[in-house]
Amino acid sequence: MQEIANLQAKNAEEAEALRIKYLSKKGEITQLMNDFRSVPAELKKEVGMRINELKTLAYDKINALKESAGTAASSGETSQDLTRTPYPITLGSRHPLTIVKNEIVDIFSRLGFTLAEGPEVEDDWHVYSSLNFADDHPARDMQDTFFVESHPDIILRSHTSSVQSRVMEKNQPPIRILCPGRVYRNEAVSARAHCFFHQIEGLYIDKNVSFTDLKQVLLLFAQELFGPDTKIRLRPSYFPFTEPSAEMDVSCTICGGKGCSMCKGSGWLEILGCGMVDPAVLEANGIDSSVYTGYAFGMGIERITNLKYQVKDLRMFSENDVRFLDEFTSAR
Ligand code: PHE
Repeated sequence: MQEIANLQAKNAEEAEALRIKYLSKKGEITQLMNDFRSVPAELKKEVGMRINELKTLAYDKINALKESAGTAASSGETSQDLTRTPYPITLGSRHPLTIVKNEIVDIFSRLGFTLAEGPEVEDDWHVYSSLNFADDHPARDMQDTFFVESHPDIILRSHTSSVQSRVMEKNQPPIRILCPGRVYRNEAVSARAHCFFHQIEGLYIDKNVSFTDLKQVLLLFAQELFGPDTKIRLRPSYFPFTEPSAEMDVSCTICGGKGCSMCKGSGWLEILGCGMVDPAVLEANGIDSSVYTGYAFGMGIERITNLKYQVKDLRMFSENDVRFLDEFTSAR
């Protein structure tokens, strides 16, 4: 009995060898049972009980040895590689909007632009009045602007142009800044619109800054971002804070200008708004418009990211679905 209780096996083969030794047809315990016939009648009861006990013990013990040998083998305990990492570490990734923002910031910082930031909870002056928005301009309408309850003057900024005003009021030219940040608009959330998104604003003010400078910088930017064959075109537009104002298109990043479903056959994709800073804006922010001129531009980071990565639904950017974020593990 003791011998059986003390059995050991290092692996499944050794446990099997024990089964053969004790319980197979010619095994030692099977032999005992075969010899049972020759046991005298008066001892049969006692001996029978003992043999049965022995058999059950051996059976249970060997099964237990087999089982533990099996689990040890499958968990790798018998042949451990101590140099392996303890579990697979999945790599994190930067958010696609951060990747694209960094890329844009990189391009403009090579042109001498430095970063500036401002608050997301703003006042009417910095978001609208200082930027030449008339009191009754429709963009101030409840449709677009989120108001902080009970403070009609305190709002969530609806564009990053508010940072222009904050920088101008504290600094004299030359000013060459880039302002990335989150903005808010009262829109119903859908695949194509969201109540918050991200913009990057650029502002350059100095003596003799002209529209040609703006156009050249934007061409260089577009070619750095979308490739050297990219073309740009400027279409006249309107913003209260720039005069003249324009919207810029780039040649379609998918078809290169031939026309496809992405550019709806036109060959062009709109990517930003820009213009020469209106002299009234310079004056409202303490800069002498008879000495200085400047240009400004602003673009949506989601829009650019969509063009680069063909993200179909804007909501993907804020849902934190790891399957979506994982797709950017290898991006910069
Ligand atoms: N603020 C504008 C917008 O949100 C973009 C813009 C910025 C246009 C700077 C011109 C100059 O649409």
